[in-house]
Amino acid sequence: MRLRVDGERLLRDMAELAEIGRDPAGGLSRTSFSPEDAQARAWYAAKCEEAGLTLQLDGLGNSVAGLPGGDDEPAVWSGSHLDTVPRGGAFDGALGAVAALECLRRLAETGQQLRRPVHAVVFSDEEGNYNHLLGSTAMRHGFSEEELAAMTGRDGDRLVDALNGWTWARGSRTDTRIDPARLHAFVELHIEQGPKLEQQGIRIGVVTSIVGLSGGLVRFHGRADHAGTTPMDARSDALLAAARFIGAMPGLARGSGAASVITTGRVRVQPGGSNQVPELAEVSLDFRDPSRERVAAMLKAIGRSAQEAAATHGVTAEWHADEIVDPVPLDEGIRDIIRGCATDLGLSSTDIPSGAGHDSQRMALLTPTAMIFVPSRDGRSHVPVEYTTDEDVIAGADVLLGTLYRLANT
Ligand code: HGY
Ligand code: MN
Ligand code: MN
Repeated sequence: MRLRVDGERLLRDMAELAEIGRDPAGGLSRTSFSPEDAQARAWYAAKCEEAGLTLQLDGLGNSVAGLPGGDDEPAVWSGSHLDTVPRGGAFDGALGAVAALECLRRLAETGQQLRRPVHAVVFSDEEGNYNHLLGSTAMRHGFSEEELAAMTGRDGDRLVDALNGWTWARGSRTDTRIDPARLHAFVELHIEQGPKLEQQGIRIGVVTSIVGLSGGLVRFHGRADHAGTTPMDARSDALLAAARFIGAMPGLARGSGAASVITTGRVRVQPGGSNQVPELAEVSLDFRDPSRERVAAMLKAIGRSAQEAAATHGVTAEWHADEIVDPVPLDEGIRDIIRGCATDLGLSSTDIPSGAGHDSQRMALLTPTAMIFVPSRDGRSHVPVEYTTDEDVIAGADVLLGTLYRLANT
């Protein structure tokens, strides 16, 4: 008998969750530690309760659900995230979090005798509003109060203030490290967020590796002046320097490598009046490459480019770069199991690298880890039109269930 998920229930859960955090401008906005994120956590906790699962929280809001009475053998974990980017989609993170829950329910309902426990996990702030992969990073690195106090969100708010109002956490937020001996393996189901599977007509992606990434802020400091009475050659216009810098980023990415990408997603300008010469222009950076060396080289090149733009416009520049999140290879043995499960289910599969970052790249530092991708329509993600068909949602969850079952019994 081949184990399968309850597809109708899984689709119902995905549809319910997709109503939480709807943004009036379109898409889903469940920023980490926001009221919308809290609503999603409450929904998830209610589902766990309904299924008779235990639910444990750590000090940063990571949650681990399990079947009662699970022994303390090293566990097989699966999960993802419930937070979203602003005006994001209904599948990024949600699919992996809900499918893991569904797998636990099916393992319980079918009374499977497992050699080791299976747990469903939700990681906090995967989208890095406060810190890249905050929750999964904290499971290995752990953060000091000083580190947490220095973290701010895209709106300039402090993480510690968001956490002070956050009820979905238990225990100390600096005591989040887990003992790798507790883990046997980690598997994450996720949408591809790119076009390859759809273009190739392949149902399942067996992820080979996850991209290296970093980010940060460049701040250009000029001088505010009157827009009407200040001659063009007497200005220190921070936004002009920022514009020159931003325009140089595509060339910098091309110079770095064919797989290098750089994104300037947000610009903050002060004082912000249309009749004032800008004194501050802050530019956000996100840059990635499969090679850590190239990410590190881009980090340096971005700093040089900022100084060149600043000098050209008679302003100064500061480059506040984030820690580099290392690229990781994913576990060959689990990849073989995923491929085997897909074949058993009559699903085509192919190896595929991930250009998106994932909690799996932190879990891979703790335990053998692998990812399963399902197709994204038109390769779109981080947008309201993000979509994966019902059939692919169920197919991905079935492959996840088979993989977890095998890992829990080998
Ligand atoms: O940005 C990413 O790659 C992921 O969605 N956090
Ligand atoms: Mn994601
Ligand atoms: Mn995402």
